[in-house]
Amino acid sequence: MDWKEHYTLDCTPMDDMHKEFIERVNALALADDASVLTAMKDLLHHFERHFAQENHWMNESDFPPLHCHVGEHERVRAGLQSIIRVVENGNPCLGKTIAREMESWFDHHAATMDTALARHMRHVGYSPHHSGQNS
Ligand SMILES: [Fe+2]
Repeated sequence: MDWKEHYTLDCTPMDDMHKEFIERVNALALADDASVLTAMKDLLHHFERHFAQENHWMNESDFPPLHCHVGEHERVRAGLQSIIRVVENGNPCLGKTIAREMESWFDHHAATMDTALARHMRHVGYSPHHSGQNS
């Protein structure tokens, strides 16, 4: 998964988080059967930090469609968690499928919800930065 021009939302802390997301997805795509579970758990831990951070910015900046965006984060996090259980039960090939699914999910999510959040924060003059607990 490569960084694409339209992923840049002119919001440095968010762009940095998204670059880290792509690194984790690529690590998962390259993982072999022995390391696929670790790569999936790394991605899950990344999501926990990534989504907590964005949810925090939404709260702080009074982002109107907050529930919609937070809800989608939770669906994606919970979905990955349940697929980790399937892989734990002996289906390592699902890791690669998930890496591909993540790419198409992110393509859409970045272009819609994250773009809207970045625009909203600029519009209201809120300047996001990484909060301590997530660094
Ligand atoms: Fe998001």
